[in-house]
Amino acid sequence: MTSSDFLNAARGLPHDRVPVWFMRQAGRALAEYRAIRENHSFAEVVATPELACEVTMQPVRRYGVDAAILFSDIVTPVEALGVGLEIRAGIGPVIDEPFRTRADIDRLRALDAEEDLAPVLETVRLLVKELGDTPLIGFAGAPFTLASYLIEGGPSKNYARTKAMMKADPESWDLLMTRLAQISLETLRGQVSAGARAVQLFDSWAGACSPQDYAKHVLPYSKLIFNGLRDLDVPRIHFGVASGELLGLMAEAGPDVVGVDWRVPLDAARTRIPEGTGMQGNLDSTIALAGVEHAKEAARDVLRRSAGHPHYIFNLGHGVLPATDPGVLREVVDLVHAEGVVNAA
Ligand code: CP3
Repeated sequence: MTSSDFLNAARGLPHDRVPVWFMRQAGRALAEYRAIRENHSFAEVVATPELACEVTMQPVRRYGVDAAILFSDIVTPVEALGVGLEIRAGIGPVIDEPFRTRADIDRLRALDAEEDLAPVLETVRLLVKELGDTPLIGFAGAPFTLASYLIEGGPSKNYARTKAMMKADPESWDLLMTRLAQISLETLRGQVSAGARAVQLFDSWAGACSPQDYAKHVLPYSKLIFNGLRDLDVPRIHFGVASGELLGLMAEAGPDVVGVDWRVPLDAARTRIPEGTGMQGNLDSTIALAGVEHAKEAARDVLRRSAGHPHYIFNLGHGVLPATDPGVLREVVDLVHAEGVVNAA
């Protein structure tokens, strides 16, 4: 296995350039993705290894990023276990029969990655051949974010039902979160055994929780996942949106790197993330729509605020927006590679 700036940065090892990739780098911002989606549904793309491999490769070619991220979705594993759902354009996953009672939780049996996620793992195997030295990032949804989709039935503003179960029925909550932790851990271990060289656990909506609730009702389950990955030789990244007040706790879950959204300046984030844990982020995704000069200026500010951090990966603060001009992101990648400075650890 060859080394890469991305993998070394993720581990806090010496490397030459600040590495960069973008969350949601595959997808509708790319005409070549939209062309495939004209003839295939999202579900078809995920279930067809050749197509999923192709759309994973598209942003690597287009942007020159330092890592690829597997094309799939955080809800793919629960769908494989029989939870009926649909990914609706502009909305995201919508669950046919949202989880409301204890009995619903029994709809989730244990996941066996080789068996239940066979097409996804086949995609990973194809990608490893196709990517050469560029590492592939595997990913899964963290238990809270998955639970929120299952309970709310779709995206939510205030996560009221989810937080109500957490408080009013802690036994059901524990059962659900424990099962989801197994599902996510098995998903990530499967992707790594198929050849993924880093993983990211997305707890996108955990920022809805207060630090007290996060520490008590969310952190233990994410910790199970990071502990369960420890014997694998892959760096582990943990990310959530609106997670400014949770950064220290998310680091406690045990990742190698904590992702930061655009709301927290990286110099401030650095004081909240313990020494020894890396940092990823956090260019505001919307800046790409303001044009290339604004995007470059904002990217320089991100680099300034990360100021030579020896354990840092450049990324957006959240995902690439569909209205993004890919040319702007290409210029951001080139700028990070040209101007990013790494100090020795
Ligand atoms: O490039 C990549 O990042 C790889 C693939 C990827 C997708 N979803 C593809 C996708 C990854 C890593 C995800 C993770 C994911 N899915 C998260 C965590 C990341 C985050 O953004 O916080 C979440 C919360 C989901 C749930 C989900 N799935 C949402 C919110 C959406 C978007 C809805 C929309 O249309 O804006 C989806 C659908 C989805 N997943 C798309 C893509 C490319 C758009 C689907 C399409 O082609 O219509």
